[in-house]
Amino acid sequence: MEIIILPDADAVASTTADIIEEQVRSGRSVLGLATGSTPLGTYRELIERHSRDGLSFADAQAFLLDEYVGLPASHPESYHSVIRREFTDSVDFTVGTVHGLDGEAENPAAEAGRYDASIAAAGGVDVQILGIGTDGHIGFNEPMSSLSSRTRIKTLTEQTRRDNARFFASQNEVPEHVLTQGLGTIREARHLLLLGLGEAKAAAVAAAIEGPIAAACPASVLQLHPHVTILLDAPAASKLAHTEYYQYTLGRKPAWQRF
Ligand code: GLP
Repeated sequence: MEIIILPDADAVASTTADIIEEQVRSGRSVLGLATGSTPLGTYRELIERHSRDGLSFADAQAFLLDEYVGLPASHPESYHSVIRREFTDSVDFTVGTVHGLDGEAENPAAEAGRYDASIAAAGGVDVQILGIGTDGHIGFNEPMSSLSSRTRIKTLTEQTRRDNARFFASQNEVPEHVLTQGLGTIREARHLLLLGLGEAKAAAVAAAIEGPIAAACPASVLQLHPHVTILLDAPAASKLAHTEYYQYTLGRKPAWQRF
């Protein structure tokens, strides 16, 4: 894993946007997009580069990581709505190329299978953006998820529903079930970018990077992936013990560890 510790959230956003921009400019690309607060700065930066520098997404496709079950796509907090509002409607994706899971599907298992097949039919994901939950989840793969899981329905933990209550009028309104790409699905993306911002993520980040590979911390499965870049602000990196091995752009250490 390539671990990059940056001074602040703006630096994480611009470094992440650099990686996405390089991918998109290299030709037809399949992007894996995450919702949640963490990637919002990256999306703002990409929107800025689209309007300022003509960065075009016309030849790209996107797949969302996850979706709440039971929320209509039109609900303002469905991930279908969130990604359009925060990113894709402000750039030039071709209509029909931003894909998500149908949270209202009558048969969630069939919907999950359809989604995995549509990612495969697109040629797989080139670059996948990931946030991390305070319990170490990625996508909505809560602790004890199978490390090889495929897209499927999951039940959210109380901790995640509490964490996400800020997007709803109350915690009671946070759906209990979700559809999420599985850990096995996520691991098929060719390049994974895990972003961590803020001290609240520090324990999960440390467990993911320095802990054992274990279902108790789903993000730890990234240790098995051949191409992972982890971009952290200083507070999110504050519980890492083995910082001598990581790349800093804080001015404290030379950048020496590259793929
Ligand atoms: C959410 C999402 C994840 C996200 C994570 C962290 O519930 N399902 O995709 O990465 O939890 O969210 P945030 O970035 O808002 O802290």
